[in-house]
Amino acid sequence: MSTEYIRIEKSQPLSGIAQLAGAKNAVLVIMASLLLTEGKNKLTNVPFSEDIRHMIRLLEMLGAVVEVDKDMGTLVIDTTLISSFRVPVEIMKRMRASILVMGSLLARFGKAEVALPGGCSIGERPIDYHLKAFSKMGATFSTSNEYIHCNADKLRPITHILDYPSVGATENIIMGTALLKGTTRIINASVEPEVLDLIEVLNKMGAHIRVLAPATIEIEGVSSLEPIDHQIMYDRLEAGSLLLAAAITGGELSLPDAPARSMTVFLSLLEEMGHSITLGDNNTGVHIQATQEPRAVSFKTMPYPGFPTDLQAPMMAALCLASGKSVIHETVFENRLVHVRELQKMGAQISIEGQTATIVGVDELYGAAVIASDIRAGAALVLAGLAAHGHTTMTGVHHLKRGYDAIVPKLASLGGRISTQFEE
Ligand code: UD1
Repeated sequence: MSTEYIRIEKSQPLSGIAQLAGAKNAVLVIMASLLLTEGKNKLTNVPFSEDIRHMIRLLEMLGAVVEVDKDMGTLVIDTTLISSFRVPVEIMKRMRASILVMGSLLARFGKAEVALPGGCSIGERPIDYHLKAFSKMGATFSTSNEYIHCNADKLRPITHILDYPSVGATENIIMGTALLKGTTRIINASVEPEVLDLIEVLNKMGAHIRVLAPATIEIEGVSSLEPIDHQIMYDRLEAGSLLLAAAITGGELSLPDAPARSMTVFLSLLEEMGHSITLGDNNTGVHIQATQEPRAVSFKTMPYPGFPTDLQAPMMAALCLASGKSVIHETVFENRLVHVRELQKMGAQISIEGQTATIVGVDELYGAAVIASDIRAGAALVLAGLAAHGHTTMTGVHHLKRGYDAIVPKLASLGGRISTQFEE
């Protein structure tokens, strides 16, 4: 079997205009939410990264009929014939987001059979918040042969107080209660933009869901939900990764679709590094003119509106070449500094203590053979490769492809010397 790898050479400053893809984390959960309807739903602006393909297979296994138009970025998903509430273990192991169908299945069938999900190896990532929330509402759980059997015949609406604003747990509770008579509240809920896109979709279906500042979500159950058409929001994480590709190569890039209003903390750090950032009208669209002398900055990853953990690794790559000392504290996942070892192979000066990485900027990075261990680590290594002398080869490409749709040709079209290769 041949091994896929990405070959990257030191590139000229990336420049031009790039079109963004739809947000992977919004599409995945919105696809799961369609199980609450019976009929034909249409999603546009859909990226076809690997995780989306898995979710298509998952829905098909449950009985959905899915029509894919890759050129148009469209999915038509007919949920009329959903007949199964069991998600096969093989699918669950491939992608953590498979757990997101649990809430919808419980709402539709009063039961669900799922397994412990897989996905990126960036920490423990248990699903205890999800299970605890449903058991507080009256669901029961038993396990056999890797499956968790959930029974939720008699759910009752309650007020949930989350210990941590988990994105997935918030989404599952919302989907699990949209059809539950009475008022469910989630206090200390996740209010990531992708959660808000899910809420917009559910309200279009006919749900009654409100977000109360700062982080409470109130769900007034309705008796049925109708199929919808929806355009998926643009991907702020792809936007951030592309802006960093321009930043690390000293380039200039426009992203007319970038959802700038949900990128405030990230964009202000780019400015603190010395890059010039201009926003489009109505906070949509971002233009970066990169500085040739970036400065170090320090930050902590946090739930939204804080700095997103999914941009921590790409930002670290850029900071490897910034003058001075940057300190990054990863607070969301406990094993999300694996890319440090790979960046060190390229000449980066980084030390780790617990969940904190200290980066002392160097003048040059050097191409090396590196391995991507998760989606965002892959993005970080690609960025470092664009700025490193010589050439870099990155394996573990499947991780990158889980979260980014056609990122290699996109970077190449902006001037990146990057290509996908296969070795026998
Ligand atoms: C989602 C995103 C992922 C992003 C993350 C944080 C999707 C498909 N994925 O993942 O890209 O990095 O949000 O912004 O939307 N936790 C528990 N118990 C639980 C659930 C979570 O301890 O039951 C912990 C996790 O291990 C982690 C933290 O809570 O340390 C945050 O996880 P969570 O917000 O749930 O992330 P995901 O929904 O898995």
